[in-house]
Amino acid sequence: MKTIEPCTIVILGAGGDLARRKLIPALFRLELFNRLPESVSILGCGRKPMSDEQWAAEVRGMLEAKHAPEVLDAAFARFGARLHYHANPPDDAESYQRLQRRLDGEPQFPPNMVFYMSVRPAEFPFIIDKLGNVGLLQEKGGWRRVVIEKPFGYDLLSAQTLQQSLYHHLNESQIYRIDHYLGKGTVQNVMVFRFGNVLLEPIWNRHYIDHVQITHSENLGVEGRAGYFEGAGALRDMLQSHLMQLLAIVAMEPPVSMSAEHLRDEKVKVLKAIRPITQSSVNAHAFRGQYGSGVVNGVTVPSYLEEKGVAADSVTETYAAMKLFIDNWRWAGVPFYLRTGKRMAENISAICIRFRSPPQDLLKHASHGSQHPNWIMLGIQPNDCLKMEMQVKVPGLDVRTRTISLDATYHQKGEENFDAYEGLLLDVMLGDHSLFLRIDEVEAAWRVVDPVIKVWSMERDFINTYPAGSWGPRGTYRLFDREDQFWRHSLSLEGATLEAY
Ligand code: BG6
Repeated sequence: MKTIEPCTIVILGAGGDLARRKLIPALFRLELFNRLPESVSILGCGRKPMSDEQWAAEVRGMLEAKHAPEVLDAAFARFGARLHYHANPPDDAESYQRLQRRLDGEPQFPPNMVFYMSVRPAEFPFIIDKLGNVGLLQEKGGWRRVVIEKPFGYDLLSAQTLQQSLYHHLNESQIYRIDHYLGKGTVQNVMVFRFGNVLLEPIWNRHYIDHVQITHSENLGVEGRAGYFEGAGALRDMLQSHLMQLLAIVAMEPPVSMSAEHLRDEKVKVLKAIRPITQSSVNAHAFRGQYGSGVVNGVTVPSYLEEKGVAADSVTETYAAMKLFIDNWRWAGVPFYLRTGKRMAENISAICIRFRSPPQDLLKHASHGSQHPNWIMLGIQPNDCLKMEMQVKVPGLDVRTRTISLDATYHQKGEENFDAYEGLLLDVMLGDHSLFLRIDEVEAAWRVVDPVIKVWSMERDFINTYPAGSWGPRGTYRLFDREDQFWRHSLSLEGATLEAY
């Protein structure tokens, strides 16, 4: 196992939602599991003036809800000692010089540095420029790596412009474009499942697979992130990034090796093979919606338009679905359906693969109702699991069939359960790019959604709505090619029929 060199993790935007909800808890969990070497320091940078001690107290407060007091007490003694704080209010012209003097001058900050851009995407170029101008991105005494959150740009052109601005101060090996979905256990398991087993490869293609569905639905609304979400919408926020990456991993060819470049070469190839959507076919391939008020988990919640910071006439989509085709030998003619939504009925992220029906229905008299095709389902969250649905004979004298679900849940009791960020943060410290996006992947994903973005930004008079707490707008079903294709909302057997909805 490679060891982590002493380093400093600088979190830009330490007071923001991502740092509070994901980064700090992930770093603390690494501490809990003794995965952070002693010589790692963490420097939070935020707008608010604060002392190191005040920030440490704030961080402790963030962790209190997640850990029992005795667990927190034991590990926070070590964790708290790593924490430092630097205020960089936007109106303070000197703050980056002071940051440089602190980082380069104080012995508690090892010269290998990770700069985590946990800030609004619009601020990326400005901050990189500031860091670059004070010399903090030069790899003189140690390595300097920059983690860039998604979305990388707002469309293809802006992604290319952002890239050019990064290249003024950084080379490609210093850039870690993060898509935290690639750090999720099941997502990595898709690769193990596909490439560690020989029995899947012969059926993983157009001859046996009817279609693929990739879903991310969540109960939450915009949760105080309207400022960002209004400009992004669900298509950019989830579909262009996370869901497109899941598609790439399900559909890519086996790589030459698991090295970062070989893996990313294959992902790019499959993303480039996605059939371009012309502007005139956008409505046949994409569907958007916005949540109205409704009831989520028994609580009445306001509509998107009533959320703080949302324009009264906003047509920003909180639900986006797309049908994509991959024009290559493996996938020609197989639709990939992608959807994501906020304020939906349930929190679920899953990849559901439906197989074709047997060529002859020899058992039609033995089955109840319509034929049930095989499904393979990879649940990403809330539970990481692997399920397969198959037909078996019902015990007894008659030949009757029923569908069973083989539950190959691979998580065993007592095994470590990490969120996505822990592993990805370790990868950055280790210098492993495998689960980070290369610029050509990002560009290929933008090329797919750009026509949809264009058309939706012109059609500003109307957007379909769906009640909060539902499964999204009904009209989304028009994306399906046939009547026997339908969104699979649940991985249990009850979710296997259209009648369930
Ligand atoms: C983020 C999006 O990238 O992913 C959020 O910006 C979304 O809108 C989140 O809620 C979902 O991630 P997770 O790990 O909670 O499923």
